[in-house]
Amino acid sequence: MFTERGGRVAVVDFRAEAAQASADQLPGALALAADVSDEGSVRAAVAATDAHFGRIDCVLNAAGHAAAGPLGEWTYAEWTRMMAVHAGGTFLVCREVLPIMRRGGDGAIVNIASIAAIRAQPTNAPYGAAKGAVVAFSRQLANELAPQIRVNVVSPGRVRTAMTEPIILARGDGDWDKGMEISSRFNPLHRICDPSELADAICFLLSRRAAYITATSLVVDGGETSAPTMVVY
Ligand SMILES: NC(=O)c1ccc[n+]([C@@H]2O[C@H](COP(=O)([O-])OP(=O)(O)OC[C@H]3O[C@@H](n4cnc5c(N)ncnc54)[C@H](O)[C@@H]3O)[C@@H](O)[C@H]2O)c1
Repeated sequence: MFTERGGRVAVVDFRAEAAQASADQLPGALALAADVSDEGSVRAAVAATDAHFGRIDCVLNAAGHAAAGPLGEWTYAEWTRMMAVHAGGTFLVCREVLPIMRRGGDGAIVNIASIAAIRAQPTNAPYGAAKGAVVAFSRQLANELAPQIRVNVVSPGRVRTAMTEPIILARGDGDWDKGMEISSRFNPLHRICDPSELADAICFLLSRRAAYITATSLVVDGGETSAPTMVVY
């Protein structure tokens, strides 16, 4: 959606083939392999982006992984990884792009959190904590970087992606349609979000049409966090 609207992008993923597959579909895109939790790796990716495009105006921090389970079954290494990728990766990318964005004069950052940051879910505490850190960090950063750079959060509910497809399938005991039907009960719109609907919200916040919006969290969840009851599965 960003490239359809005239933007040029560097796609960064720690799976080089995933970055390349995405970049191949986008005109003029650059594919880069980098682990967002690794300082040197992020620094190199940002420098390569700057060298290639000569500027960075917009940043989307969306790298992440899902993991859930009773707290007693979590290792400290798993907790640390959760924090390092979601909170640490967001911090590292923001820090590294800052001088480049400032050089251009203005810009916008969108960091992806989750409704797990604002609502309890079964056995999702470490993920919720990492996403809560993204929300709090973004609010602080928005104030620090204003008025040149806007920083906002998008907190998705349930979006159909490579991350959630196995979860949806498991919820339906291997039956995809059943999994989709159960997953759709969580919000008043009774459906899963299409990635394009999330992209719309992200592109809006990155655009100048959102020039007066900073330090906020846009919840794109089909109303799930407003729902009076929650289905326990
Ligand atoms: N899909 C949902 O319903 C949902 C809901 C709320 C929040 N989110 C968040 O949205 C973001 C995107 O998730 P998605 O659903 O598109 O999942 P996805 O698995 O399709 O995409 C995530 C991408 O991040 C990459 N990645 C993971 N760890 C990385 C790392 N350390 N360094 C670089 N790249 C890394 C993966 O290779 C993958 O391509 C994540 O932060 C996720 O937590 C998703």
